[in-house]
Amino acid sequence: MPTLKILVGTMYGGALDVAEQVKPLFEDAGYEVSVLENPTLADVTDDAPDLALFCVSTTGSGDFPGNFVSFVRELQDKSPGLGQLRYGLIALGDSSYGETFCGAGRRLDQLLEEQGATRLDDRLEIDAMETFMADDEALPWVEGWIARQNLKVA
Ligand SMILES: Cc1cc2nc3c(=O)[nH]c(=O)nc-3n(C[C@H](O)[C@H](O)[C@H](O)COP(=O)(O)O)c2cc1C
Repeated sequence: MPTLKILVGTMYGGALDVAEQVKPLFEDAGYEVSVLENPTLADVTDDAPDLALFCVSTTGSGDFPGNFVSFVRELQDKSPGLGQLRYGLIALGDSSYGETFCGAGRRLDQLLEEQGATRLDDRLEIDAMETFMADDEALPWVEGWIARQNLKVA
């Protein structure tokens, strides 16, 4: 069975909730799914999944949530090359923060691209100003993502 890892960066649990809510959609599509609340670089290098989904919110002024800082630091320090990695990205933010809107998700996307990873489809950006419950936007998007990218294996 192919594997999917959902790597979570969250301050207040919204991104984790999204990860937990979309997990069954991937299980139904035939994946063995793990949700990683404290992701490390090794999760996508040493023990690489067939597919990764990042669910990452933004804090501070365009900053990464605390539980995701070490992943990013390792990514920058080790520059591992991620040519095999295929991923999707859901960024949570709030447009009232202006130019730092979804800053962490956008920066992560850039770093992954620099390492040669391939994003499947566009990044989803969920704006707390527009969407009260992030799941309401994430669930249909993931359903569409699985269909558009032909990710169903079972
Ligand atoms: C102290 C604080 C700082 C924030 N800074 C930003 C920011 O710079 N850019 C942004 O898009 N959203 C920002 N947000 C909004 C959060 O990213 C948004 O509410 C998100 O849904 C939180 O997700 P989480 O529950 O997974 O942490 C901030 C929220 C707080 C409380």
